[in-house]
Amino acid sequence: MKHGVSNDTITDQINSLFSTILAEQKKVSKVTPASPENAHVTESILKEFTAMRGKGFFYNYLSSGRGHGPFTELIDGSVKYDMIGAIGVNLLGHSHPLYIKGHLEAATNDVVMCGNLLPHVEALDLTKELMDSVKDSKLTHFWFSGSGSFSNDTALKLVWQKSNPKYRVIAFDNAFAGRTVATQILTSSAEYRDGMPTSIDVDRVPHFDQKNPEKAIETTINALEEIVKKYPDSHCALMIELIQGEAGFVFGPKEYYEAVFKWAKDHGLFVWIDEIQTFGRTTELFAFQMLGLQEYVDIVTIGKALQCCGIMFSPELNPKPGLIAGTFNGSLVSLNVGAKVLKYLKEGNFYGEHGRIKQIEKNFINRLKHLAKNSCRDKITYMGGVGTMISFEVGNSSKDVTTKYLKELFNNGVIAFTSGHDPAVRVRFLIPTSITDEQIEEVLKIVEATAIKIL
Ligand SMILES: Cc1ncc(COP(=O)(O)O)c(C=O)c1O
Repeated sequence: MKHGVSNDTITDQINSLFSTILAEQKKVSKVTPASPENAHVTESILKEFTAMRGKGFFYNYLSSGRGHGPFTELIDGSVKYDMIGAIGVNLLGHSHPLYIKGHLEAATNDVVMCGNLLPHVEALDLTKELMDSVKDSKLTHFWFSGSGSFSNDTALKLVWQKSNPKYRVIAFDNAFAGRTVATQILTSSAEYRDGMPTSIDVDRVPHFDQKNPEKAIETTINALEEIVKKYPDSHCALMIELIQGEAGFVFGPKEYYEAVFKWAKDHGLFVWIDEIQTFGRTTELFAFQMLGLQEYVDIVTIGKALQCCGIMFSPELNPKPGLIAGTFNGSLVSLNVGAKVLKYLKEGNFYGEHGRIKQIEKNFINRLKHLAKNSCRDKITYMGGVGTMISFEVGNSSKDVTTKYLKELFNNGVIAFTSGHDPAVRVRFLIPTSITDEQIEEVLKIVEATAIKIL
């Protein structure tokens, strides 16, 4: 369907701008240090920013708005490999042609934001693309929200309304659910809600235990049984991140989830899956599809790589009028790009055992294994993950050592982030799909050199 204004002149000019912008962005194509005279530029600008927001930054990073594929340029002119992509947002990498095209097309519209009351075609197109990608499940509806956290908040409202008055939620140890009032309570880490009142009843059970896989089902099911014994007939839903992002990409096999979800269904609970970080990044579009769990899923929250956020849910969970509303669906750029990203991922060769995402996973894991056995023996001690979500442990895996390693890695030209908690903190990579095999090789050379230098 047509969006915005168009005529031959506009089309020609968009095409010409598109090529010119892409050609300029493509110049950002290799790791480059800042020049000596610019070495402290980012740090001093961030000091001003820190003073205003009242809180410092993990890295001396401020983007110049230039970057291509896995490369990002900082305001000081240095260029680094971006292996974290705004914590998972930039799945296609920097200045991807679809991102540029989506921006230019959105500029032909009459407004910036798409309202919920009087929507634009972009909201319909994205919803259609999404619903088409989950035809193998019970999910038939999609509702936009402003952030991943807010998607989870909305999901909570839907399961509460349908289960009223059973308001207790079952969540998992080490899970992350977001930063709203509700989601900080669903999140496992107590330090994230220091000083907050407890207004929602959440019961937590252990997730898949990578160190004791044979006992994992039994451990989780026993904990679930304990909970329902303590609070009979009180729970509405079981909320789970299938691949726990903040925990360092912890996940189990299909059998584990099947056992847990069968238990949930036997106890009348909705199965609520948080795919905010996993969307697009595993070896299928959704992690629940990769794990073959379609039949159990009642509600799924998404965000990040989609460029906008929302919830997909089954007809049973469609709420009464009045429960959900909101001003925005999202910006027209994010809705337009979101639909393009979805189409591209579905139509390209990304998924399945022979897709590009599986190749990226294998390349990283095999190379990390090789390093751990050779030059980085006792320095790289664990590697794991799935698809474009890869993690590894360095030295004694403590927070201090991992943070020191990450800062040095940053200085050497690779940006990553932490995950997990002491004593098993991990280096987390959320890798762009546009990375080439040669670039993977170069990233891992920097990983290796940094480990050898400081561990
Ligand atoms: C699994 C998961 N759930 C929820 C959220 C919250 O999303 P947002 O930061 O967009 O509110 C995140 C963000 O990191 C996440 O990884």
